[in-house]
Amino acid sequence: MSEIAGRLSIQEGAKYLERTFGGRGMLLGGVPGVKRSSVVIIGGGVVGLNACKIAVGMGANVTVLDVNNERLAYFDDIFGCAVTTLYSTRANIQDVIRQAELIIGAVLLPGKAAPKLIYKEDINMMKKGAVMVDVAVDQGGCFETTRATTHQDPIFIIEDIIHYCVANMPGVVSRTSTIALTNTTLSYGLAIASNGLEKAVSTTPGLIAGINCYGGNCTCRGVSEAFDLTYTDPMDLIAKNNLQGRE
Ligand SMILES: NC(=O)c1ccc[n+]([C@@H]2O[C@H](COP(=O)([O-])OP(=O)(O)OC[C@H]3O[C@@H](n4cnc5c(N)ncnc54)[C@H](O)[C@@H]3O)[C@@H](O)[C@H]2O)c1
Repeated sequence: MSEIAGRLSIQEGAKYLERTFGGRGMLLGGVPGVKRSSVVIIGGGVVGLNACKIAVGMGANVTVLDVNNERLAYFDDIFGCAVTTLYSTRANIQDVIRQAELIIGAVLLPGKAAPKLIYKEDINMMKKGAVMVDVAVDQGGCFETTRATTHQDPIFIIEDIIHYCVANMPGVVSRTSTIALTNTTLSYGLAIASNGLEKAVSTTPGLIAGINCYGGNCTCRGVSEAFDLTYTDPMDLIAKNNLQGRE
């Protein structure tokens, strides 16, 4: 889903840069003699990488910021001079958003709310008609001005800056999303259907991380911490269940 949201973030951003939506009225790639748009991607994970691929493909000037140097090195290796990589600091973010036509928020702190990286007052230094797409909205968003929107009403405007903050972006390209999700989940579903969950975890260990609750117990550490529930290791419960089944 992050691959889809990343690619879509540029497609949507390009759309809302169009003048009829209140955008700056610029093509991402410009044309010969007219400058390209500047795209800033904050967070170089799966979303960031996929956003970057599309933005570079459309001919934009792309800058990627992350706090993980290995990740920045990866972008540098893959995209070479087509992309500028910057360590994500407050100063660097403030510097690049002044020039940006399109900003993509794509950060994740696993198990935590997204850190706020662009503040309300920063918006005053941005170009009028610029677009901000906060993909991290499902984790609270990484822009202070973010509030979740829907595909029916995807944008709102603050100080002439267009905000796109749809919490379930892949839903709008449902055919692509369904097939992509099925490609990666079908084998798990078939393993459970053929063998039952308890047996399937021994042949398909990847399933264990997907068990959020079992027999009335919370078996996902992140969920148990977020909602102050007791965490139980799913494998302990399954082993106990298998033992009782044998007795
Ligand atoms: N809105 C949607 O429909 C939708 C769909 C898919 C994913 N998401 C969200 O998109 C976000 C990114 O997902 P992902 O799969 O790319 O995660 P990921 O873990 O692959 O990447 C996150 C990146 O953020 C970086 N990061 C952390 N703190 C940072 C900071 N202060 N500055 C810059 N970078 C920082 C990490 O180093 C990492 O490279 C998540 O919040 C995820 O929930 C939303």
